[in-house]
Amino acid sequence: MDKADIVVIPAGLPRKPGMKREDLVGVNASVACEVAFAAREVCPGAMLAFITNPINVIVPIVATILKAKGTYDPNRLFGVTTLDVVRAQTFVADILNVNPQKVKIPVIGGHTGRTILPILSQCDPPLKGTDKEREALIQRIQNAGTEVVNAKDGLGSATLSMAYAAAQFVSSLIKGIKGSKDECIVECAYVESDVTEAEFFATPLILGPQGVKENTGLPDLDDDERQALDCMLPILKESIAKGIKLGEGMMSSCA
Ligand code: 2OP
Repeated sequence: MDKADIVVIPAGLPRKPGMKREDLVGVNASVACEVAFAAREVCPGAMLAFITNPINVIVPIVATILKAKGTYDPNRLFGVTTLDVVRAQTFVADILNVNPQKVKIPVIGGHTGRTILPILSQCDPPLKGTDKEREALIQRIQNAGTEVVNAKDGLGSATLSMAYAAAQFVSSLIKGIKGSKDECIVECAYVESDVTEAEFFATPLILGPQGVKENTGLPDLDDDERQALDCMLPILKESIAKGIKLGEGMMSSCA
């Protein structure tokens, strides 16, 4: 019998000021890989929720290793990007002067810099503002993690906000596992995907007893968002290719 239904993996080093999330891959990849492999041994059916950075690279690494071991289920492997949604909700709520929990906004792509794409055109309640204001808001959401790293001045990266975001994501996974009939459980997360030409991509997902029940695909995008998506895809694809290559190289060391 499985010893866990969900394994959340926050293990790994945080950034220091001046570092990009990608700079952590050398250390964090082996940590993530060992934990994932151990989890697959002990609880092969568990959902794996990775918080370890750089998420854009770590998830493809883990997927590659699990594939090689024959224990990969794309519906059960998640890169947790909920913090980007929480930040988007918070900053939008500040502007609209409403409760952040009442703001709905999809954040798609990945979890670093320009790969974090908040879809302001689909914000509910609707968000008005000039192009300049929208651009400033998008950049604030994209750089919020770096803002925290700089504010902590060498003492790490986001902790409490990440814990809050992870708790929200995991409670949604649990609700999905329990199979609520009355509620459609939707969370954005970074998963294997055929929605764009990037093999892994975050979009709103409907969660169910087996993990991803349905990928709802790309939200409607305005022209600027479509352009931002086009700019992001080569960056994301490069990270994914790096992850797959690293995963292939790490296969023997993780066993
Ligand atoms: C963040 O965005 C730690 O990547 C995390 O703050």
